[in-house]
Amino acid sequence: MNEDSDGLDPSNMPDIDPAGGLDDLLIFGNPETRRRFLKQMAGTGAAITLGPALMRMGSAQAAGAASTTLGGAPAGTVPVHLKINGTDHALDLDPRVTLLDALRERLQLTGSKKGCDHGQCGACTVLVNGRRINSCLSFAIAHDGDEITTIEGLANGDELHPVQAAFLEHDGFQCGYCTPGQICSAVACIKEGHTKTDDEIREWMSGNLCRCGAYPNIVDAIKDARGKSS
Ligand code: FES
Ligand code: FES
Repeated sequence: MNEDSDGLDPSNMPDIDPAGGLDDLLIFGNPETRRRFLKQMAGTGAAITLGPALMRMGSAQAAGAASTTLGGAPAGTVPVHLKINGTDHALDLDPRVTLLDALRERLQLTGSKKGCDHGQCGACTVLVNGRRINSCLSFAIAHDGDEITTIEGLANGDELHPVQAAFLEHDGFQCGYCTPGQICSAVACIKEGHTKTDDEIREWMSGNLCRCGAYPNIVDAIKDARGKSS
C-alpha cells in the first residue's frame, strides 16, 4: 500500500461516516439547506469516496501556514481583498495560494471541492464575475476585487437556487462530491445559453467529471432549470 492509498482505509478515518461525510460536502451551502438535503438523502445508502488527491498538500500548506503567523502580515505574503458571496474578505496570502485553497483553508468555504488539483475534473468550479473557472488553477491574488460566487452563495437563505432544486428533483448526483462544481458550472452554462440541446449541454459541461456517472440526470436537471434561472 502506498502513501496515498493509506488515506482510503476507513479505519484511518474514524470521524467520517456517510451522513457526516455528506454533511461535510456542503453541497447546498448553508446549514439549513444542508439539513434539508440530508433529509432527502436519508436511506439512499450514499457513501463517499475520498480520492488520493484529497490527501495531497501544496498550495494548501501555504494557505495554512500563513494563517498561523501572529502579529502583522506574515513574511512573504501580500494583502488581497476577495469579495465572496457578497462579503469582503481582507487576507494576507502567500502568492502561491490558489483561489481554491484560500476558500477552503483560510475562509472555511469548503463547498468547493478539490478533486484532481490539476484543472481536469471541475470539482473546484466557482464563478468569478459570472464566469466559471477552475479555482485550483487560479492564484487567489489574481482575483483582488473580483466578484466570486461559490456554492455557498447560490441559495437565497432557505430558498435553493433553481439549479440546486433541479439537481435534487432529478437525482443529479450519487456521492455528491462533484456536485458543487457541477451546479456552479451549470449556472454559468445556462447563462451562456449553451443548453439548447442535450448534446450542447454535454459538450459545455464536459469540464465537469462525475465518477458516479450521474450524467443523464445532470443533463435532465439542467434542462429543467434552464427556463427557471435568471
Ligand atoms: S480540483 Fe479538479 S479541476 Fe480543480
Ligand atoms: S455524484 Fe459522485 S462523482 Fe459525481
